[in-house]
Amino acid sequence: MTQRGSRPHRRAPARRPRGGAEPAPRAAARAPRVAVYPGSFDPVTRGHEDLIRRAFTFADRVIVAVAMNVAKQPLFTLEERVALLRQAVDRPEVEVRAFDGLLADFARDVGAAVIVRGLRAVSDFEYEFQMALMNRNLAPGIETVFLVPAFDLTYLSSSLVREVARFGGDVSHLVHPAVQQALRHKFTR
Ligand code: PNS
Repeated sequence: MTQRGSRPHRRAPARRPRGGAEPAPRAAARAPRVAVYPGSFDPVTRGHEDLIRRAFTFADRVIVAVAMNVAKQPLFTLEERVALLRQAVDRPEVEVRAFDGLLADFARDVGAAVIVRGLRAVSDFEYEFQMALMNRNLAPGIETVFLVPAFDLTYLSSSLVREVARFGGDVSHLVHPAVQQALRHKFTR
């Protein structure tokens, strides 16, 4: 006979409500997936907005990283480019930040899993390919993901928008109204 007190302690099985289903296994919490979408955004176009939306198919948060030092003299200042992006992409899961220095360092500092870039045409490919390889070299854990924009936006670029706006062309379907207004302001001074 087993002595009282020496019996191994058994936990009573959890009571399930009569006819109730098995409790669902608790989903393992995972860190939010952060994507960095870098560029000059001089200015942001409907094409950029489209890519940001598409990035949410694999990311929980997108950080739009606006380069401080761009190769060419930008039309808009850094502050203007950031402000226009914030107006064009107003959703809580998108953060717009300026960055200086190497993109790979910035992406690592913000805990990004991926760098997002858009590919519109074959002509984009060589530069993008070089950049992706260099960024992998600098930050091996971060992958570059290329996204293709909506078909009717493939021809769109910031430089074309600037040129059309400079000569008074209609860009209303290519950019957010705030950008259209900013362009008008730049070119009618
Ligand atoms: O919109 P753009 O001009 O094509 O964007 C280019 C940008 C800003 C993403 C790229 O020039 C860049 O990453 N600059 C930061 C400096 C850097 O990391 N250079 C090395 C890239 S391999």
